[in-house]
Amino acid sequence: MTSPSTTLSLVDTDPAELAVDAVVIGLHSQTVDEPGPTTNFAGTLLLATGAESIAAAFDGRLTETLALLGATGSPGEVVKLATLGTVTAPLVAAVGLGPEPTGAAPAPETLRRAAASAVRALAGTERIALTLPVPDDEDGPAALRAAAEGALLGAYRFAGYKTRPQPTRRPAVAAIAVHVPDAGDDRAREEVNRAGVVARAVARTRDWVNTAPNELRPPAFADSVAAAAREAGLGVEVLDERALADGGYGGILAVGLGSEAPPRLVKLSYDPAAAGEGAVKRLALVGKGITFDTGGVSIKPAQGMWEMKSDMAGAAAVAATMLAIAELKPAVAVTGYLPMAENMPSATAYRPGDVVTMFNGKRVEVLNTDAEGRMVLGDAMARACADGCDYLVETSTLTGGQVVALGKRVAGVMGSADLCQRVQRAGDAAGEPTWPMPLPDDVRKGMDSEVADISQVNATMDRAGHMLQGGVFLREFVADEVPWAHIDIAGPSYHAGEPTGYWTKGGTGVPVRTLLELVDDIAAND
Ligand code: BES
Ligand code: MN
Ligand code: ZN
Repeated sequence: MTSPSTTLSLVDTDPAELAVDAVVIGLHSQTVDEPGPTTNFAGTLLLATGAESIAAAFDGRLTETLALLGATGSPGEVVKLATLGTVTAPLVAAVGLGPEPTGAAPAPETLRRAAASAVRALAGTERIALTLPVPDDEDGPAALRAAAEGALLGAYRFAGYKTRPQPTRRPAVAAIAVHVPDAGDDRAREEVNRAGVVARAVARTRDWVNTAPNELRPPAFADSVAAAAREAGLGVEVLDERALADGGYGGILAVGLGSEAPPRLVKLSYDPAAAGEGAVKRLALVGKGITFDTGGVSIKPAQGMWEMKSDMAGAAAVAATMLAIAELKPAVAVTGYLPMAENMPSATAYRPGDVVTMFNGKRVEVLNTDAEGRMVLGDAMARACADGCDYLVETSTLTGGQVVALGKRVAGVMGSADLCQRVQRAGDAAGEPTWPMPLPDDVRKGMDSEVADISQVNATMDRAGHMLQGGVFLREFVADEVPWAHIDIAGPSYHAGEPTGYWTKGGTGVPVRTLLELVDDIAAND
């Protein structure tokens, strides 16, 4: 497994004199009312704030030169320019920021993506500096945080399993200095420190998701999480198959039946009371940890099934969030619950028609063994409520319906209206958008079972409203008084396409940044 070895620091000296291998500047595209007779696009380019001293060293010819090189300033574009002695660094890289924002600075997400694009394009370069437009006002910290996070996330690499070195694979940038007005400023240092912790958590999540599923079956996943958590100083409890049977975790056990690798429930806890904090809110985080989802007896089609190695993305994100919390030490008591199982078809597997008694005593009629996530989550969520919590946030790659409804970038959020809204706001601030979805009565009605308390899916609706069926089912396992939110990350947790912005191929680390932002919100506002 990899963890980012890339270091992040602050500088406030003249960018033209920085002894680095490359300086990154921002470049806006702007619409011109009347295109002139020029053969290039110089008139449509605008250097972003931060590039002033570099531009001066080029005698005012930097924009023109970038235009000659084909720069357009569009987001994600990186144009490199040899400086030939004009500035200390041998290379300037202009990263596109899109149209110049009217009046204000670019949105944090624009900077997050641009920093990552630049860092990816500069792979093979050892030391770089970023002189992106970070405003010197109250918007500064958010902009700095975003640029720093993006830069580190763009440097993410999964070690992979190749037996020979890849000559075309250039090493990630090793050291990134972010240019700010005052490198000694406490707030700036705090933001850069936080960005490092957050990026490491995202990288951990990506590593776990990208690990081959034969190497990360439930016992191995539980061991890996427990080892990291112990090292971080978190409380760790691992329930093996015997403890699960003794505890009545029928859902986790049922899904685990088909696999030779037995299921686990890992509980991680962080409690600031131990550090002398007074009364704090208790937040429970639950993440789906299906280390591979074949569908079980209700087996999935072969095409694309390999992506189901990412069906533990929720558990990975919760585990990594807990590791970050151990470092950030917020004034919130946070407990993570990670139910882990491998969903396999076999002679011992659970089957459609089975009735399963869950941890909270409710009986579930299984109709489709591929709806396994809700089985393991129902147990874990009920356990979290039994332990006691003031908020419960659960995240899972729960339904293909989420991808159909909201696509690959926007997660669905269901549950208590207020908490859903806070999750949505946290996601917006973190660059991980979510959208609220309803839990309609008719969807629940069709889940009434002939024989048990509830059916696992709505058999009367077939594929209609699959995401909502998942949410409606999970609600049954939350204690009445507990505000809760379910974040369906089936689409956003995994990026199968080419790298773009800070999204490298494979696991994305969603929703680690949202969860950490939410923890800050609860620490500040209860
Ligand atoms: N892990 C899948 C959901 C999924 C699909 C995640 C695509 C990521 C990408 C989940 O366990 C599943 O199989 N869901 C079924 C539910 C159905 C059987 C009620 C689905 O969405 O089809
Ligand atoms: Mn499934
Ligand atoms: Zn699944």
